[in-house]
Amino acid sequence: MDLNAICDRVIVLAKEVGQFIQGEQLKFQSESIEYKDVNNVVSYVDKEAEKQLVSALHSILPEAGFITEEGTVETQDLPLKWIIDPLDGTANFVHGLPHFSVSIALVQDKYPILGVVYHVGTGELFWAIQGQGAYRGDQRIQVSRAKHLGESLLATGFPYYSFEQQDKYLLILESLMQKTHGLRRFGSAAIDLAYVACGYFDGFFEYNLKSWDMAAGILLIQEAGGHVTDFEGGDDYLFGGNIVAGAPVHQELLHVISTLWKA
Ligand code: 2AM
Ligand code: CA
Repeated sequence: MDLNAICDRVIVLAKEVGQFIQGEQLKFQSESIEYKDVNNVVSYVDKEAEKQLVSALHSILPEAGFITEEGTVETQDLPLKWIIDPLDGTANFVHGLPHFSVSIALVQDKYPILGVVYHVGTGELFWAIQGQGAYRGDQRIQVSRAKHLGESLLATGFPYYSFEQQDKYLLILESLMQKTHGLRRFGSAAIDLAYVACGYFDGFFEYNLKSWDMAAGILLIQEAGGHVTDFEGGDDYLFGGNIVAGAPVHQELLHVISTLWKA
């Protein structure tokens, strides 16, 4: 399997699908669609983008299965899988904000070996191959060097279901807003992770995410020299849903999160 050749094709594909989504967002805004129709439009764009991805990825690597957000293809339990989110940041898309992404990962067992995140609004293309480093375009990227929470800017995502855990999450937010330079909630976990990989953010955490929100971004961070764990410091993040990611600051961040999450 030539991962470099595969990656080149996936990058072209991510950009093509990103252009499709962007075109649909412009149409959607100019057509003043009624609120009741918004969900239908979004579901059309998500599904159509996913179908384009699935069909092309299948021809790139026929032996790989799929795990996808929109479920347009049956999940098969094969050792190699594409884990994809055609449109990460759907709420931003709906509101006209240019902050959403296409996220594509190739995963072997539970470990991402290739990851591509395309930020459609800025045109930033992040990619990584296991063992080869992480890149934005042709430029190698590294996580930040900040060691302490006191010098860090963090990203997170607010809970959108499972609200019974929100009190613990709010305690974590309360603690971190006092200890850091600030917290950001931009609405695309895939971009948040890419922004940790390139050092804009020093750390990221969120609970109850899905594997397609994270798979590509996780590899970007690992290949950029960062750490990724679950809320207990273990490795059940990709399918467990709870993720703490960061550079050196990961250690202090995990300490705050694991202590308050257990409480
Ligand atoms: P999505 O845009 O593909 O749905 C932000 O917290 C992250 O959670 C995003 O990556 C977003 O992915 C995901 N998410 C899923 N459902 C959501 C919802 N109803 N509201 C906000 N974010 C959601
Ligand atoms: Ca998503």
